Amino acid sequence: PPRNVFQRATETALYLRQNVPQELRHPQVAIVCGSGLGGLAETIHPEPVFETAYANIPNFPQSTVQGHAGKLIFGLIGPAKLPVVLLVGRAHFYEGHSMELVTFATRVCKVLGVHTMIVTNAAGGLNPDYNVGDIVLLNDHLNLAGLVGFHPLRGPNIDDFGVRFPPLSDAYDLELRKRVHKAWKNLGLDQGKRRIHEGTYVFAAGPSYETRAECRLLRGFGADVVGMSTVPEIVVARHSGIRVLAFSLVTNKAVFEPGPRGDDPEIQNMTSAELDAHLSKGKANHEEVLEAGREAAKDMQVSDTRGVPN
Ligand code: HPA
Repeated sequence: PPRNVFQRATETALYLRQNVPQELRHPQVAIVCGSGLGGLAETIHPEPVFETAYANIPNFPQSTVQGHAGKLIFGLIGPAKLPVVLLVGRAHFYEGHSMELVTFATRVCKVLGVHTMIVTNAAGGLNPDYNVGDIVLLNDHLNLAGLVGFHPLRGPNIDDFGVRFPPLSDAYDLELRKRVHKAWKNLGLDQGKRRIHEGTYVFAAGPSYETRAECRLLRGFGADVVGMSTVPEIVVARHSGIRVLAFSLVTNKAVFEPGPRGDDPEIQNMTSAELDAHLSKGKANHEEVLEAGREAAKDMQVSDTRGVPN
């Protein structure tokens, strides 16, 4: 008979337990590194560490996007040497994976005994107060794809993980968010160039970036940032009782203003090069998203865990 997702996640967890060194085998926290944020791996202790490519892991999805090469890193983090697992690169729904596959790694983390998941992503800023490089601590989400049927918990409920109708209000752990704000101050980051906000993330299935009209729609719905990941993992994590904390890095600002009209006198006499420059202002592109990620990753490596409250 076909095995359900609990049985497959258990099989994968067993494989990992057999291959990961003893002292790293029981991660308590999982950290999902978003686009360009693989540099987070530099924040763990250099030894002991164990890495394995998603390609080697049974039942794992194979990533298809550039800049998202997938691997798991087991290691120890911080002065307390907490065992963690880093997920560098994730499967996205827009790649054509099923919701089940997109959230499979989260299920495996649960079976491995992870009690807290920290999710990071690159996102477009819809809140006009946000700047590129700012950090948004998520306190709520809009599961746009889920609301119309692409929901990771659709199908027979797997009771081994959680209940049929899980509540998702207050999914983003308040205690952990309080600690983030305290740590931000203790590290002196409130004196720096980046600001930290709290806001609502909207999950758009992608892969295209939003049109101007879509940006207006999503802002009107109350979203502060928009991205193509995170929400499925959060939903599945909460279903199985994992505490979650999620951060967006604002990599670009959404464009709301309608584009120029064909009968706009201002554009009539522009050369096509001038017109291209005019239209590309603020347009989202993958390179810019990755670049903002690399910049932020550098900052993450220089700030260590001094001043982080317990
Ligand atoms: N839209 C959707 N996803 C994104 C964006 C965006 O503007 N930036 C980074 N990921």
